[in-house]
Amino acid sequence: MYVAPSILSADFGSLAKEVRDVCDAGADLIHVDVMDGHFVPNLTIGPLVVEAVAKASTKSLDIHLMVENVPFFVDLFLPLKPKFISFHIEEEKHPLRLIDHIRKNGVSPAIVLNPHTPISSLEYIINEVDMVLLMSVNPGFGGQKFIQSVLPKAIQLRELIEARNAKCMIEVDGGVNGLNVSDLDAAGVDIVVAGSFVFGSNDYAQAIKALKI
Ligand code: DX5
Ligand code: ZN
Repeated sequence: MYVAPSILSADFGSLAKEVRDVCDAGADLIHVDVMDGHFVPNLTIGPLVVEAVAKASTKSLDIHLMVENVPFFVDLFLPLKPKFISFHIEEEKHPLRLIDHIRKNGVSPAIVLNPHTPISSLEYIINEVDMVLLMSVNPGFGGQKFIQSVLPKAIQLRELIEARNAKCMIEVDGGVNGLNVSDLDAAGVDIVVAGSFVFGSNDYAQAIKALKI
C-alpha cells in the first residue's frame, strides 16, 4: 500500500517543516487538496502555497482539485509538475479532452468519484487515466467518517480495470485509518490518502507504517 498524507490536516503555520517531516516518516506522495469554495464548501490553497510545498517535499505531489472551472485550475498547477492531477468527473463536461491535455504536459491524469457517483461513469474513461480516486467521504473537510460503501465500489473498479486491461491505480481518500486500511487492501486499493490519521498522531512514522500493509 502506498501512503499519501493529506496536508489539509497539517499545521499550516509550519507547513514546510510538516511536509519535510512526513517525507522523512515514509510518505510515498504528498496529497494536496485544492478547494475553491464553490465545488465544495471550503477554501484552501492556490499555486503559490503549493509551490512552497513542492520545494519542501522530497516526494512527488498528488494534487486533488475540488473546484469548478476545472481547466483553469489544471493550467495553474501543471507548471509545478506534480505526479498526479486529479479532477472530479461530476464537474467536467469534457473529461477526455482535459485528460489528454494533462498527459501532453507530462503529468499523470486521474479522475475522482464522489461517494454517490457510480463506477459505470468510468466506462469510456478507464483506459485513458493513470489513477482513479474514490472518495470515502463527501469532499470538503478532513476528519470525517469513512463511508463503508467505498469497499464494494473499489472491488467493482478493480474488476473493470482487469476486464479492460487498463493500467490504472486505485486511490481512496477520506477517513482512512489503521483499522480500515486492511479492508481497503483486500478490496484492491493501491494508494491511501490520510490526513487526520497521520497529522493527528504524535508519531508520523508510526502512523504511516500502520497504513503500509
Ligand atoms: C477531503 C479531502 C481529503 C482529506 C482527508 O475532501 O479530499 O484529502 O484531507 O482527510 P482525512 O484523512 O482526515 O479524512
Ligand atoms: Zn483529497
